[in-house]
Amino acid sequence: MNIRMISKLAAGAAMLAMVAGTAKSAEQVEVLHWWTSGGEAAALNVLKENLQKQGVTWKDMPVAGGAGSAAMTALRARVTAGDPPTAVQLLGFDLRDWSEMGVAANLDDLAAKEGWDKVIPPALQAFSKYEGHWVAAPVNIHSTNWLWLNKAALDKAGGKVPTNLDELITLLDAFKAQGITALAHGGVPWQDGTLWEAVVLSTGGPDFYKKAVLDADPAALSGDTMKKVFDTMSKLRTYFDPNFSGREWNLSTALVIEGKAGAQEMGDWSKGEWLRANKKPGTDFVCIRFPGTQGSVLFNADQFMMFDVGGDAEKAQQKMASAVENPAFQIAFNTVKGSVPARTDISDEKFDDCGKKGMKDLNEASTKGTLMGSLAHGYAQPAAVKEAMLDVITQHLNGQLTTDAALKRLPEAVAAAK
Ligand code: GAL
Repeated sequence: MNIRMISKLAAGAAMLAMVAGTAKSAEQVEVLHWWTSGGEAAALNVLKENLQKQGVTWKDMPVAGGAGSAAMTALRARVTAGDPPTAVQLLGFDLRDWSEMGVAANLDDLAAKEGWDKVIPPALQAFSKYEGHWVAAPVNIHSTNWLWLNKAALDKAGGKVPTNLDELITLLDAFKAQGITALAHGGVPWQDGTLWEAVVLSTGGPDFYKKAVLDADPAALSGDTMKKVFDTMSKLRTYFDPNFSGREWNLSTALVIEGKAGAQEMGDWSKGEWLRANKKPGTDFVCIRFPGTQGSVLFNADQFMMFDVGGDAEKAQQKMASAVENPAFQIAFNTVKGSVPARTDISDEKFDDCGKKGMKDLNEASTKGTLMGSLAHGYAQPAAVKEAMLDVITQHLNGQLTTDAALKRLPEAVAAAK
């Protein structure tokens, strides 16, 4: 082989490498999400690694802040600038809002090929589809009406788990007497709303939740049952520690993990933090439905909406959506995240006791008609109404509104936001 041939071959190889390189870098997803806590990041890694193995490059766009309020601001900025990310973590009514703006990609062919219609629960499909077309791939189902207890503190308090609000108050008093923070809560609107919606469900039951939260019925939002709800919120506030204001949810979880607090009301993403700290359900912590809400599930499901960015990105988007719905991935991801699968055909075998309970509760609630969307996480009301309600809830919890004023303000705020 002469020198000219060698250099020709080398040039050819370099060209091939370049072409391959281009093809590779074209297969990239830029993912906007708010999974920045230890447990959340660990779960996200399962997806990142899965895609990397398939040759899809992951461009991370994390925007910290539970429930995604900061992420939504970042998303608006990117879309306004005409440069949306390829995949975005979205919840409930936000999926509808973005779809309405005509920026969603169409996943119909993939969904048909993989039979999503048959395995994704209808409660989720109602948001994963827009005008009959698949726009998002649901990754999990979380639920918000949980209470997480430090097992040692619970045992010290007699070991009995509370089954209603009165028993909860008795237990919180016992935690207080132990010299620990009774209820670890972060004073941020979405967290206030997460606690409030559990109290609404516990106080009034599922029918009342439907009326007050899903229908935003003015009478339900201002009546006697709602008065009890706000009074209970004021009572629960007396069990917070002085540093609760503005605290992120995972820092509150850490207080319960470390035994500095007895309990936290939070969605099951909280379990991701416990697992990350190497703690075991039943041994180190106990998961129960928020007292008085047994039999009902307030759900929120994380979904990845694919934005219509055209060109090469589509292939990578399809791979990501397909990976997300893959049954083995559903198990690998959700056992780390604390959520349960977004498909109905997954065995609970690999899930721990909290996960098994989550799956069983979900099935039962779905059959009984007590599976309802979470307000704080975008599955009960469009963003404007949600924000208006959270505003009143937070102001009341912070003592800026009396209970009477909150009862008057809540239906007014909803009406103004509609
Ligand atoms: C929720 C989301 C969960 C979890 C949580 C706290 O809205 O669905 O996956 O991330 O916020 O960040």
